[in-house]
Amino acid sequence: MRHRSATPNRHQALERAQRVLTGHRTADPALSVSAAPPPSVRRRRRSSAVIDVRDVRKTYQMGDIAVHALQGVSMRIERGEYVAIMGTSGSGKSTLMNILGCLDVPTSGTYLLNGSDVRDVDEDTLSDLRNRYIGFVFQSFNLIPRTRALANVELPLAYAGVNRTERRRAAMAALDEVGLADRVGHVSSELSGGQQQRVAIARALVTNPALILADEPTGNLDTVSGDEVLGIFARLSDEGRTVILITHEDEVATHARRVIRIRDGQIIADEQPAAEGAPR
Ligand SMILES: Nc1ncnc2c1ncn2[C@@H]1O[C@H](COP(=O)(O)OP(=O)(O)OP(=O)(O)O)[C@@H](O)[C@H]1O
Ligand SMILES: [Mg+2]
Repeated sequence: MRHRSATPNRHQALERAQRVLTGHRTADPALSVSAAPPPSVRRRRRSSAVIDVRDVRKTYQMGDIAVHALQGVSMRIERGEYVAIMGTSGSGKSTLMNILGCLDVPTSGTYLLNGSDVRDVDEDTLSDLRNRYIGFVFQSFNLIPRTRALANVELPLAYAGVNRTERRRAAMAALDEVGLADRVGHVSSELSGGQQQRVAIARALVTNPALILADEPTGNLDTVSGDEVLGIFARLSDEGRTVILITHEDEVATHARRVIRIRDGQIIADEQPAAEGAPR
């Protein structure tokens, strides 16, 4: 396979992604709203929140049957918040997470990421956004089999075109951050479930993302490994990153500072149970 060079188009896409990341709006047509509203409206429309979801609906069409997975979800999440999204199986959590992570688009409604409407961002820019700004962690780890931890963690940087030396340095640092400096040469089958999840977190962290989206990250883990993973999320939150974690376990949700409950595709509660300064 030929090495992918930074073509002018790709370069422009990276610049656009950078502007979305920093919330910096320009006259770039790829980022502007299609019909520019007057300044007063624009100010109201503009949002300081990292995540601003407005009346988002998602309907999956299964033949004749429409599955209404999200039915008018609105919420704002500010920079640095640590939020748990809770709900029973089928309530719409992963559907919401996929939209928040720009892996899927709403059927209707608006999603502003860092103040930019994701509908106005082209696919190249979106994929750069995902790669640089968002770190994903899934229940099933999604590591590449028969591949060493170090190479798994380097992967997002390879996609981003980072050179080999820098990739290695950053991947080592990320694995060290999750306590796996002594396991960098192990392949997935040589690691415990908790260690595999920590490799997956290191992979999510290696691009230094501001936003971490985790879908049931402790779902396949024993209590001790789960607690280790939650400890890492707490630290990431303390570092000022925005962390959104899906869970259906109350115990896991107590680690977050805010709990949003979903039922049948709607938010039924949005609480901040722990008082400021209380232990998590
Ligand atoms: N790709 C899809 N096509 C059709 N229906 C889907 C699709 N993805 C999800 N659904 C349906 O949408 C609803 C919400 O699913 P979702 O995966 O968001 O639930 P969830 O809260 O994450 O559940 P779980 O806790 O089991 O992971 C469910 O009824 C599901 O069957
Ligand atoms: Mg799910």
